[in-house]
Amino acid sequence: MVKVNTDGCKSFVGASAYTYFEKKALTAFDTLINGDGEGNDFLGWKNLPDDTPESLISDCEAVRDEWKAIGVNLVIVIGIGGSYLGARCAIEALSHGFIRPSERPQVIFAGNNLSEDYLSEVMDLAAERNTACVVISKSGTTTEPAVAFRLIKKYLEERYGGDDASKRIVAITDERKGALKTLATRQGYRTFVVPDNVGGRYSVLTPVGILPIVLAGFDVRAMLAGAAEVKREVSRRSDDNPAIRYAAMRNLLHSENGKAVEILVTYNPKLTFFAEWWKQLYGESEGKEGKGIFPASVTNTADLHSMGQFIQEGSRIMFETVVSVEKSNREIAIGSDELNLDQLNYLAGQTVGHCNAMALLGTRIAHIDGGVPQMEVSVERLDEFNLGGLFYFFEFACGISAYILGINPFNQPGVEAYKKNMFALLRKPGYEKQTEEILKRL
Ligand code: PA5
Repeated sequence: MVKVNTDGCKSFVGASAYTYFEKKALTAFDTLINGDGEGNDFLGWKNLPDDTPESLISDCEAVRDEWKAIGVNLVIVIGIGGSYLGARCAIEALSHGFIRPSERPQVIFAGNNLSEDYLSEVMDLAAERNTACVVISKSGTTTEPAVAFRLIKKYLEERYGGDDASKRIVAITDERKGALKTLATRQGYRTFVVPDNVGGRYSVLTPVGILPIVLAGFDVRAMLAGAAEVKREVSRRSDDNPAIRYAAMRNLLHSENGKAVEILVTYNPKLTFFAEWWKQLYGESEGKEGKGIFPASVTNTADLHSMGQFIQEGSRIMFETVVSVEKSNREIAIGSDELNLDQLNYLAGQTVGHCNAMALLGTRIAHIDGGVPQMEVSVERLDEFNLGGLFYFFEFACGISAYILGINPFNQPGVEAYKKNMFALLRKPGYEKQTEEILKRL
């Protein structure tokens, strides 16, 4: 169901070089499958498509139904990084872009930035609506979601009273430890667990993704079924395994062709947040020890009128991976016009989707001619099943890819550097020495 086409790279790489990287990918695959590589205490995501219990989904549906019964029409999901990107990606990919069905709550995201303007506007909307909140933090101590939650919690308590507010809050966090766990136990919030052995950016098929996606009205059973189908496909030790082919080719382009940047390209604005999810997955998993491919993204055809110029003719540092969807969910035919002043009658009878497909094809040829290798990862259509498949495909390929690079795909030590400085500047107790040092540098 997830297909990988590497034909657009063939003129850039030699067959023997590919064979060499294919071997590396097969070795990395063995490490991932056997669970004997670095970070192997974070491999729980591999079995989520098969092991997620039906009771977890029905517990999420129970929250959805309870909130529906009290008329909730706005759910604020608080979280950052892996604690929000998967859910946001799925909800944006599957939702109508402009109209929300009245029977479903609007799901919005907060706690992923420290902008006062953003948070103020979230609070403006909360005040107009019947509001509930899902707060997600695996560590339970991340500053951005904690700040947002402090504000929203106070607002809900003042508006609905302590007991009712507690019924409108669900916490998703560690089973035992962390400030959010302590708070949830004390306040009696309903909680869901982020498994110990699943890191944030691999957590979309845990309650971190499942609860918000269920609340937004989508079918997580189909999503898990799609992930399970791809799991079977990518768990085969074979040179035609699509995850092995993708991982081998991107590492070859990086190591032998000097390509430092991978651009994930989509041709549907609904997938813009899919690219944000993918960028975090690959950026945080591979960008370590002075190594890694920088993950970037464009949404075409819009970006063909901005970044397209650079991709066609700028520094030759990038290759592209196009995530393409073979069939639109809906078709629009272009009609003929008697005056034809826009000179578009040559398109009469064609669909807009056909024009999009020709833009994709024309761009592929132009970019290859311009020195940009191109891979294509395609699915039949954009729905829960295929999205689940894409999640699993890119997670599995990321594990292989990082092991080819000799990197632990499951930690993120670099994220701590900014936090230490921010805490020192905010004069967090315990950071006095760092405060002194950092103030000397300003
Ligand atoms: O992938 C990761 O592990 C990170 O992006 C985390 O998800 C992010 O930092 C949020 O962490 P937490 O869920 O502990 O608040």
